[in-house]
Order: sequence, then C-alpha cells, then structure tokens
Amino acid sequence: MKKLLSLISVLLLLVILVLGSGAYNMAATEKHWSITEKIIEWARENSIEVRARDLTVPPLDGTELLAKGAEHYNAMCTTCHLAPGLKPTELSTGLYPQAPVFHQREPITDQIDKLDHAKEYFWVIKNGLKMTAMPAWGLSHDDDTIWAMTAFVLKLHGMATEQYKDLVESAKHSSHDHAHDHP
Ligand code: HEC
Repeated sequence: MKKLLSLISVLLLLVILVLGSGAYNMAATEKHWSITEKIIEWARENSIEVRARDLTVPPLDGTELLAKGAEHYNAMCTTCHLAPGLKPTELSTGLYPQAPVFHQREPITDQIDKLDHAKEYFWVIKNGLKMTAMPAWGLSHDDDTIWAMTAFVLKLHGMATEQYKDLVESAKHSSHDHAHDHP
C-alpha cells in the first residue's frame, strides 16, 4: 500500500512538472494521439447518452418547425458545420476537433435510431461541448427553438443543395419571433 502511494505521488509530481514546464502543446494544429482521441470520444458519447436518454422528443416533421430550424441553422451554424453547396470556411478549417458536416452523413431511416439521434443532438445544441468550440445555444434560445434546430439537423443528413436553398428560402417567407438577419 505504501509503495503504491509513493508511486502515485511520484507520477503526480511528474505530471505537474511536465505540465508546469509548458512541454504539453495546446496548439489546435497538434493532434491528440489516437488513443487519447478514442478515450475522449468514448467519454463524450457516454456523457451525452446518459444525459439525453430521458428527454421526450416532440413531433419533428412539421413544416413550420423545419422552416424555423432552417432559418436558425443558416444564420448560426454554417460557419462551422457548413451546408449543402457551401465550401469549407476559414473558421471551419481551423477547428480542432472538427465540426461534423451533417449533410454528408447518411440519412437515418430507422425510427428508434432517429429518436436517439434527436435526443443527443438536442442535448448538445442546448448545452454545448467543453473544449470543442461547440456553443451552448440553450443560454440564448428556448427548447422549442432548439427542437426546431434538432429537426433541421436530422433532415440535413444527405440533403442536396437545391433542397437546402428551398428550405432556407421558405423560412424567409414565414414569420418568426426571432429573426437572424446576419450578413
Ligand atoms: C464555432 C463553431 C461551431 C458553431 C457555430 C456551431 N457548432 Fe456544433 N459543433 C462544433 C464542433 C467543433 C462540434 C464537434 C465537437 C466534438 O467533436 O466533440 C460540434 C458538434 C455539434 C453537434 C453534435 C454532433 C454529433 O454527432 O455528436 C451538434 C448536433 C451540433 N454541433 C449542432 C450545432 C447547431 C445546430 C449549431 C447552430 C445553432 C452549431 N452546432 C453551431 C462547432 C460549432
């Protein structure tokens, strides 16, 4: 027991010395080891799953809801997550971890899988993710708006440029309480 305690103390001291000396490179251009990446991914998946699983998903296929989601997505998310027909931006290129590009993901056909994704997307959009640049939109948007964005992100899977343009265009013609007239 004593040996174990002194081993832990020595290891802890080593960690403090290495981190304190500035040897660890915090640059976003310096990728994690693949084992570190896998551990972070595993921890993130579990963390989100546990917190999202008891959420109740409202109906996500209404035209109004999708239009609202499209408007918000187009105004607030494309610099990082891009959109059909949009080239990588200076911001998206520099992110580490990279933001997922939803329209390049496979459409989800299984209903249970869709519900699970909806819960997890909602949770992430509302709460953000530590040390990733993914903001917590729940600090500025209510749950209804976040479900609208969730519905739209799910719909984005496999979406073509024309459909994206149509949805964003149709959103401009419907009235909302919260406009995003960003340039
Ligand atoms: C400043 C950049 C940035 C902006 C703006 C941003 N995100 Fe993200 N987002 C990220 C990054 C980076 C990740 C990936 C984090 C990771 O890999 O752990 C992420 C992850 C996500 C995820 C989780 C995806 C998954 O499969 O786990 C969802 C959902 C999401 N974002 C939705 C949105 C929505 C909706 C908006 C707009 C309201 C938005 N994001 C705006 C950077 C951004």
